[in-house]
Amino acid sequence: MRNVTKDNITDVFSSYFGDDTDPRVKEVLVALARHIHDFTRETKLTHDEWRKGLEFLEWAGRITDPERNEFVLLSDVLGLSSLVDMQNSNPEATSSSVLGPFHVSNPPALEVGGDMKRDFEGEVLLVHGYVRDTNGDPIPNATIDIWQTAPNGLYSSQDPDQDIHSFHGLMTADEEGRYTFTTIRPVCYTVPSDGPVGEILNAAGRHPWRPSHLHYIVSAPGYRTLVTEVFPSDDPYLDQDTVFGVRDDLVMTYVPQPAGSFPDGYKLSGKVNDAYSRVDFDLILAKQ
Ligand code: BEZ
Ligand code: FE
Repeated sequence: MRNVTKDNITDVFSSYFGDDTDPRVKEVLVALARHIHDFTRETKLTHDEWRKGLEFLEWAGRITDPERNEFVLLSDVLGLSSLVDMQNSNPEATSSSVLGPFHVSNPPALEVGGDMKRDFEGEVLLVHGYVRDTNGDPIPNATIDIWQTAPNGLYSSQDPDQDIHSFHGLMTADEEGRYTFTTIRPVCYTVPSDGPVGEILNAAGRHPWRPSHLHYIVSAPGYRTLVTEVFPSDDPYLDQDTVFGVRDDLVMTYVPQPAGSFPDGYKLSGKVNDAYSRVDFDLILAKQ
């Protein structure tokens, strides 16, 4: 087509595909082009704005490395990651929520009843729950990968003073599907905002905070792997998570427990006679 106009460019784009193109690839690319073209017409995008957008992507590329992926962060703060999560979730299973960039490979084994906080000090949190199927029946021996921030608000991979495995643990739930461990109550923290994504947040008058949370990846043979988080019901950022990860079924009450009531059977290191909190959070997996 040699007579390309601003009104027919989307149709022309669609006509340029080869005969052997995978139909799904074509469907996604045509829809992408249609939305980009509509966006350009709707906003009457100028050359300066278009160039700024490309410079933004170039900057994101420059600071992306194996430890920091600015494109994933961009997807997170735009709500894209959460939208993909929600539209691919099974409504009968626990909601999925953002993975984030701070998971580490080969986490250390954490036994049922183990202590993930090791020598760190702070408010002890006892986490307890069951892995179940969508009928409510326990799934025995599921694998649960758990991670969180240290009390200073940093993940191990962000903090040279922490062992890379601190506040990470890999647990196998027991025969009844039960998992439980002790840790320190995680704190709310900010997503990295010193790069191009931070500029977007600034320009939009948005803050970079996330409510405090524990991350989980739960897997069991025959079930869909669940990537999720649990949030405390009293967190000040619950209604303004900068990456849109909060869902109703992931918000739990962290119940204060009196001093001297710590249950037996846990490997808690340090003081067992202080007050602590407890959260119960079941993980419901959908069949594959
Ligand atoms: C996190 O929860 O660790 C996280 C999620 C999205 C972006 C940055 C951090
Ligand atoms: Fe996180």
